[in-house]
Amino acid sequence: MTAAGAPPTPAPTSLGASRARVCTAVAGTNIALVKYWGKRDPALNLPATGSVSLTLRELGTRTTVRFVEGAGADSVRLGDVPTDDRVAARVRQFLDRVRQQAGITSRAEVTTENSVPTAAGLASSASGFAALALAATRAAGLTLPPPALSALARLGSGSAARSIFGGFVEMARGTRPDGSDAFAHPLDEATTWDVRLVVAVTAVGEKALGSTAAMERTARTSPFYPAWITANESDIGAARDAILARDLERLGTVMERSALRMHATAMAADPAVIYWNGATMSAMHAVLELRAAGTPAYFTIDAGPHVKVLCRSGDAPKLAELLAAIPGVSRTMIAAPGPGAHVVEEEAA
Ligand code: PMV
Repeated sequence: MTAAGAPPTPAPTSLGASRARVCTAVAGTNIALVKYWGKRDPALNLPATGSVSLTLRELGTRTTVRFVEGAGADSVRLGDVPTDDRVAARVRQFLDRVRQQAGITSRAEVTTENSVPTAAGLASSASGFAALALAATRAAGLTLPPPALSALARLGSGSAARSIFGGFVEMARGTRPDGSDAFAHPLDEATTWDVRLVVAVTAVGEKALGSTAAMERTARTSPFYPAWITANESDIGAARDAILARDLERLGTVMERSALRMHATAMAADPAVIYWNGATMSAMHAVLELRAAGTPAYFTIDAGPHVKVLCRSGDAPKLAELLAAIPGVSRTMIAAPGPGAHVVEEEAA
């Protein structure tokens, strides 16, 4: 596997005993307030536009990586079970990039636990690749500065670049062909802004169409795609200003329109990309009605049917109750802004 765009490779060695580590890292997932939807370079996973997100405390991934001298292959487990071949291949490809950067050849044991349902539009790939990027680099003896870690996480999943940082985060589109300027930076990392994201789970199981395939189809066939790109750029500045001013109404307005424009663009693809179900629509209407009655609450939806609602912390319980009562909503969760990816345990192997 090649690692296009990676820095020059040192001569491969096996992992020296003094550098050998086991590392466990935790990352919160993040929800985009201004969406990323489309790639300017699929091989390097470079986004066509920037994005703005909120990293969450309660929903995330815990990953342990151990490089093992003499092991024949990487092993990748989700909880107690080996992951399916598609996920394992993505993780191996990512580990190859880490090995190349660290100049090592050892295979790895990777164990991951998600507190978010996997691949269901609840952003498990964001926290997953952020935790993996941190745990794997540290286990390989590398300590990358946060921007380089963010760029590395991006190679696993575009949204993962943002979960390296906590709180409100902006991801740069970058302009360099090698992607070296396409990484995230914090806007308000340890935010004390008292907001919550209420998540309404509206389906079980994995989504039908992964975000990479759906973005590719949207860019290739949706007549709205060029307009989406133009509109998104101006939404980033508006969201940034609203966050810095702690203006929930302004941020929520930008957030909702970004989500609706992303989905409208995807729905106009051929064949259409439709992630919503009936409960998605009902939840959106419930939020609009609540807002009309005076509660500031704003929804967003990712590549799946679930609805996430930004509100004041004091309004979160009543919002969760309202959403839980909608037929088709199986579960609700309340999440607060959380920290960026961090190491929780590290030891010499
Ligand atoms: O990180 P990816 O490549 O799975 O894409 C994420 C796309 C959205 O969640 C829909 C939007 C975003 O910016 O996170």
